[in-house]
Amino acid sequence: MKDSAPVGIDALAFAGPAGFVDLAELARARDTDPAKFTKGLGQHRMAIAGPCEDTVTMAVEAGAEALRTFAVDPDEIGTLIVGTETGVDHSKPVAVYAHELLGLSERCRTFETKHACYGAMAGLTASMDWIASGRARGRKALVIASDIASYGLGTPGEPTQGAGAVAMVVSDQPRLLEIRPSSIGDYTRQVMDFWRPLYSKHALADGHYSIECYLDALSGARMDAVGDRGDLLQQLSACLYHVPFVKMAFKAHQRELEMELGRTIRRSEAQEWAQLTESYEHLCAPWLKLNAEIGNIYTGSLFLSLIDLLRQAGKQLAGRDISLFSYGSGCGATYCLGQIGTEVGAWQTVIDPSESLASRRRLSIPEYEALVRAAEKADRTERLNPADFGLSGGLYYTGTRNDRRHYERG
Ligand SMILES: CC(C)(COP(=O)(O)OP(=O)(O)OC[C@H]1O[C@@H](n2cnc3c(N)ncnc32)[C@H](O)[C@@H]1OP(=O)(O)O)[C@@H](O)C(=O)NCCC(=O)NCCS
Repeated sequence: MKDSAPVGIDALAFAGPAGFVDLAELARARDTDPAKFTKGLGQHRMAIAGPCEDTVTMAVEAGAEALRTFAVDPDEIGTLIVGTETGVDHSKPVAVYAHELLGLSERCRTFETKHACYGAMAGLTASMDWIASGRARGRKALVIASDIASYGLGTPGEPTQGAGAVAMVVSDQPRLLEIRPSSIGDYTRQVMDFWRPLYSKHALADGHYSIECYLDALSGARMDAVGDRGDLLQQLSACLYHVPFVKMAFKAHQRELEMELGRTIRRSEAQEWAQLTESYEHLCAPWLKLNAEIGNIYTGSLFLSLIDLLRQAGKQLAGRDISLFSYGSGCGATYCLGQIGTEVGAWQTVIDPSESLASRRRLSIPEYEALVRAAEKADRTERLNPADFGLSGGLYYTGTRNDRRHYERG
């Protein structure tokens, strides 16, 4: 099927917290072999949000950066969607705080999407539909993924935590990635693999089952998108996946290759295993560096991998086709194909978050544990001073007074 007009991602930016934990250090503190976290899960560091850094502050920092670096006038934004599973209120959307703090026009549709790690992809495709329907009338959408992944101290999920936001401007003149609506495939099934009851700050997960659910959803969404094609991977320059931890992308890529070959790939079969690892090293591994440094940012993690690809190889891969797979527990998923913009090389440097990542502060394990405990109480704390947590120069949550959350630049 032919797509009528181009639509896709026109601007991208990442923002995250000021502190991180080294996973080898965490492993030692938990009496675990560090190789389990670094090799078994593929993670090296995880970003940790303190009490003054929440889903709103990260969303606004990422959104402002995307608008600034890509010179998008806030008045051009006609839809704002924040995808998150770690919102700050049962009723009021993170998006409406972000709308004010980003200085967007009142003539703007604004809402929050929640479906575990799938919220931002839901927002992206909804905003593409908004543009394709003609309702946008030349305006652009701002879709922001913002989350704090938290499983609790000492849990199996602990090494797969992280925090951060990715903002994307969606338009009919996408400078970075055109997404083909006719290539979008979807999947939904009710499963209890990961959830967060209203009474809990931390997610609950049936971790190994969630991996199975992810892979089933990949099969289903890919089948809906491209049918049983056995020649897709050789035509792609990159395969991007939802990345709760880096090793998951390997498992996902294995599933995709198995679908193309029509059989299971076993480690004991040297030739097929070599084909898998070669394909993974070529199409996936290079674009997982930021995920390994930042950790799981839930709904933004697929798009963090896209930033990683564009910052490293935008120019080299300009005009090439890639695949994207988003999975949200519970569960919902989308698989789609996109084409990298031909002028993307011009934006390669500005979307690279390396400099801000290099200025993060390494937290000792006791410092990390104290921050997590303080963050648990932050919603009910009246006054928080960012300087007490070594923070300055950004937008911060400064406490809840008279049942109202307060945000200040400091
Ligand atoms: C991912 C998760 C299930 C892992 O839990 P776990 O039971 O503690 O870890 P495992 O025993 O499965 O070990 C993880 C990996 O490290 C490997 N490993 C274990 N010890 C190791 C060591 N000393 N050296 C190298 N690798 C090691 C395991 O073989 C496994 O790799 P594999 O899956 O390729 O076989 C857990 O972190 C979790 O629940 N995370 C949250 C949910 C999630 O992220 N789900 C993903 C889909 S959305």
